[in-house]
Amino acid sequence: MGGKDYFDQVADQWENLQASFYSEKVRDRALATAAVKSGATAADIGCGSGFITEGLIRAGLHVIAIDQSEPMLAAMKRKFAAIAEVDYRCGEAEQLPITDDAVDYAFANMYLHHLERPPVAVKEMTRILKPGGTLVITDLDSHTSEFLRDEHHDRWLGFDRGDIRQWFTEAGLGRVVVDCVREECCAQSDSGSQSVSVSIFVASGEK
Ligand SMILES: C[S@@+](CC[C@H](N)C(=O)[O-])C[C@H]1O[C@@H](n2cnc3c(N)ncnc32)[C@H](O)[C@@H]1O
Repeated sequence: MGGKDYFDQVADQWENLQASFYSEKVRDRALATAAVKSGATAADIGCGSGFITEGLIRAGLHVIAIDQSEPMLAAMKRKFAAIAEVDYRCGEAEQLPITDDAVDYAFANMYLHHLERPPVAVKEMTRILKPGGTLVITDLDSHTSEFLRDEHHDRWLGFDRGDIRQWFTEAGLGRVVVDCVREECCAQSDSGSQSVSVSIFVASGEK
């Protein structure tokens, strides 16, 4: 099964799975890092069932939610139908369905480690930011738990923070900061024989 098939298949359970992996502290830290302002427009890239979007709606932002998985977007639509209007778009990491210079903020939580070419995706997320806009990525630090490749379809076993800093800078972002969220992502292998607890970083940069 490929990564897309995996997320299509777990779409209806994603909210529970996600809650078992990491807490709302990650979202709080991502939004605080960007110092989001009510009324602004934010993109939630690789939105899943809307973990980051939920915080953005609560903070009064307009949200464009993008994911490759239609079932994930459908789960998210059901979740937010009664409370807010979200602009849902199905799209791919290297060709986001948003025009240049369109959003004040772009967020991507636990998305980068699923991608084939993270530096290209960072450039693409930078493209959609307005000048002065902020990109915030929250993801895993480097780790060695191979079972996440097979069972969760991770392509990257986390990232070296130096690489993240370099990719942000190469994408043309300034004021680049990579810091610790002080929160762990925890998971167990299907057999229960292996477990992982990996620290999470928050990276930000301004266009
Ligand atoms: C681990 S989930 C994280 C979802 C959400 N951000 C969260 O925090 O719960 C990764 C998401 O990225 C999406 N994704 C993975 N590769 C993608 C790609 N190449 N283009 C667009 N979305 C992708 C998946 O469909 C999935 O919904």
